[in-house]
Amino acid sequence: MVDPRTQPVSRTGVAGPKFSDEDLYDLASKYSTPYFLVDEATLRRKVSEIESAFTDFRGKFRVAYSVKANFNPSVIRTFAGEGIMFDLTAPSELQFVTRAGGSADSVVYTSITETISEYEEVIGLGVRRIVVASHNGLANLSEAAARSGAVINVMVRVNPEVHVHAELRGSMGHGKFGLQFNGGSRDSAFSVLKSILSNPGLRFEGFHFHLGSQVEDPACYAEALEKLEAFVLSARRQLGHFEVRTLDIGGGLPVSYGRRVPSPRDMASRIVGQLNSLVESFGGRFTLVAESGRFLTAESTVLVCRVVNIKEFGETRYVYVDAGYHMLLDSALLRHEYPVEVVPGGRYAQQKMALVGRLCDPLDVFPISSRSKIGGAEVGKLVVFRDVGAYSIVLNMPFHSQPRPFVLMRTNDGTYRVARKGQDVDRLFADEGGDCLND
Ligand SMILES: Cc1ncc(COP(=O)(O)O)c(C=O)c1O
Repeated sequence: MVDPRTQPVSRTGVAGPKFSDEDLYDLASKYSTPYFLVDEATLRRKVSEIESAFTDFRGKFRVAYSVKANFNPSVIRTFAGEGIMFDLTAPSELQFVTRAGGSADSVVYTSITETISEYEEVIGLGVRRIVVASHNGLANLSEAAARSGAVINVMVRVNPEVHVHAELRGSMGHGKFGLQFNGGSRDSAFSVLKSILSNPGLRFEGFHFHLGSQVEDPACYAEALEKLEAFVLSARRQLGHFEVRTLDIGGGLPVSYGRRVPSPRDMASRIVGQLNSLVESFGGRFTLVAESGRFLTAESTVLVCRVVNIKEFGETRYVYVDAGYHMLLDSALLRHEYPVEVVPGGRYAQQKMALVGRLCDPLDVFPISSRSKIGGAEVGKLVVFRDVGAYSIVLNMPFHSQPRPFVLMRTNDGTYRVARKGQDVDRLFADEGGDCLND
């Protein structure tokens, strides 16, 4: 087995783990194709890339892993081992984190549903840092906190209504997420903040915003921070002094997917000066939290599948693989271009190529990035999709009665272990209702 630390970048030129052809074929014969393969060293490296980007920030800086991007227990355990925080949206995510070695102390809990029962459940499991995004949500949290007797550190999720150039936007035009700063209604950051400050059972912790995913323009964060600063100063004039202990700038750090995008250092250098002046204008050091799901996990993982058929249709050579969008959903949903390579590679294709999956669905055609190298495709060869560790991997569904594949992990010592067992047809049949047939 190879030493992962000495591996160069892949043939596609994409930075990320390189696995030897021999290892990929050995794993294919042991676990069958398709399979996902995660590199632990890359997960850990991504944490330090974010942490080192913010070393010039004058306060404390913490990275929070957004578990929604990939809730594989081995991935969570790796991040728990790095001592980072967790950004969670559901009680079941909390169960995953605590069972995989993380602690409830390290959680920022940001619900969409904001129900009393949900808050009771997570408070009961030890969560003490909760983000609210509606008047009803705050009333529910306040009730759940009172019933539990625990002191909850409450953050207010604002929606700074910034135009974001991102694959998935969560700010301007997305009233689903966060509160407007002002406005006469009860659902504004101002009125929710006022209620928190006057509630002795709650402790105001700070602010949270999330602008979107794959945010490629750091200026969006700068604009959001500017608006937040103005809001805090104006709210203090009306409500008196309140401390901001934590500022959570949400997720969105982009992944290259074979293109040039700003690195965490580029993003941080655009806003660290501004954050340091917020320390002055907020009148004290605060903890800065940057959440990340995509950046922390995407590059770590490849999907390995096999060419099962090739045919000519007009000018085009169709290459069929035994994967499909049921395991790379963003390729169909967002027309996302994952860098792809054939292993072992061959000559560049002279001909027009189409890379298609095994599903009987016209959407099951993979958009091919300019960095992709599928020239040497032949039946029986392996095809590797890179940067697939975020979102797609957990949106994996059993369309066409396709059992979920194995997830394997190359650990830091270069050995391979199973991180999720592949489903067999018996298990899938039972899970899909086969075991109810005789009820
Ligand atoms: C509140 C919140 N934080 C963080 C994230 C993670 O975003 P990303 O994976 O782009 O870093 C999301 C993603 O939807 C989110 O909703």
